Amino acid sequence: MSRTEDFGSDILLTARGIEKSFGSNHVLRGVDVQVRRGEVVALIGASGSGKTTVLRSLNGLETPDAGLVELDGGPAVDFGAQAAARAGGWAARRAGARRAKVERAALRDRSAMVFQHHNLFPHRTVLENVIEGPCQVQRIPRATAIGRAEELLARVGLSDKRDAYPHELSGGQQQRVGIVRALALEPDLLLFDEPTSALDPELVGEVLTVMKELADEGWTMVVVTHELQFARQVADEVLFLDGGVVVERGAPAQIFSNPAEDRTRRFLDRILHPLD
Ligand SMILES: Nc1ncnc2c1ncn2[C@@H]1O[C@H](COP(=O)(O)OP(=O)(O)OP(=O)(O)O)[C@@H](O)[C@H]1O
Ligand SMILES: [Mg+2]
Repeated sequence: MSRTEDFGSDILLTARGIEKSFGSNHVLRGVDVQVRRGEVVALIGASGSGKTTVLRSLNGLETPDAGLVELDGGPAVDFGAQAAARAGGWAARRAGARRAKVERAALRDRSAMVFQHHNLFPHRTVLENVIEGPCQVQRIPRATAIGRAEELLARVGLSDKRDAYPHELSGGQQQRVGIVRALALEPDLLLFDEPTSALDPELVGEVLTVMKELADEGWTMVVVTHELQFARQVADEVLFLDGGVVVERGAPAQIFSNPAEDRTRRFLDRILHPLD
C-alpha cells in the first residue's frame, strides 16, 4: 500500500481538501498532505504556487476556506465548518469563533515554524530569543528553559553566542538560532519555510546540515525548499505543488529521476538548468 493510501496509526498529520482564496486569487484548490511520525516531507513548487500558504494552513497561522487538518489525537480542525459559521448569524459566528480559536490553538501549540527570515527579536540576546516561547507561551520555569536552551545551542554549535544579539551573528548563525527557537518549544511537528533561501550560498550548508541531523534524529518535518539536493537526500516524500493542487507526490528518487507529470518535469528542468 502506498504512503498516501495508508491511514495507519503512525500518521501524525493529515490535511484534506485545503482550499484558500485571497480575494479572486484561488490559491489552493483541494490540497491533501499526510505526514507520518518521523517522516520528512518536502514541498516544492514555483514561486507563488502556494507553498507558504499550505504550510501556514497546517499550523493554523492561515485560515483556509475549506478542508480539514488533523494532528494526531487532537480535534479535527474543520475549516469549512468555520467558514460556514463565519457566514452565519450572530450566535453561530460567536460559537464558531470560540471553537475556531480552540482548534487553531491545538494545531499551533504542537508545531513550530522556521521562517525564511529568522524573525528573531533584535533587542534580545540569543538566549532570550530561545526561551521566550517556552517561558511566555508555555509557562515553563525560566531556569528549566535556560537549561534546555543551552543544550540546544550546544547541539548546533552556538554555545559561545548565547549572550550575543542577532545583529552580531552571521545569517547562517541567525537561522540556526531560529531552528533552536523552534526546537525549544518541543513540538511534534517542525515546519520549515525555505529556511536557506535568504542566505548567502556559503552559509546554506551549515543550516541544511542541522536540518539533516534533525531528520536523522527522527523529528517530523515538513520542509518547503528549493534545495533539491537536500530534498533528494533527506526527504521521505516529495510533494510538487502547481496550480493550487499537489500535482505529483512520491519518493524523491522517483520525483527527481522519473517524474510522472510533464508539469513536474518542466519545473525541475527550470531549476536544474536555469540558463537553457
Ligand atoms: N496574505 C495574503 N494576501 C493576499 N494574497 C496572498 C497572501 N498570501 C499569499 N498570497 C498570494 O497567494 C499566492 C501563493 O502565495 P504563497 O506565498 O503561498 O506562495 P509560495 O509558493 O510560498 O511562493 P514563494 O516561493 O515565492 O515563497 C500568491 O499569488 C500570493 O500573492
Ligand atoms: Mg513562500
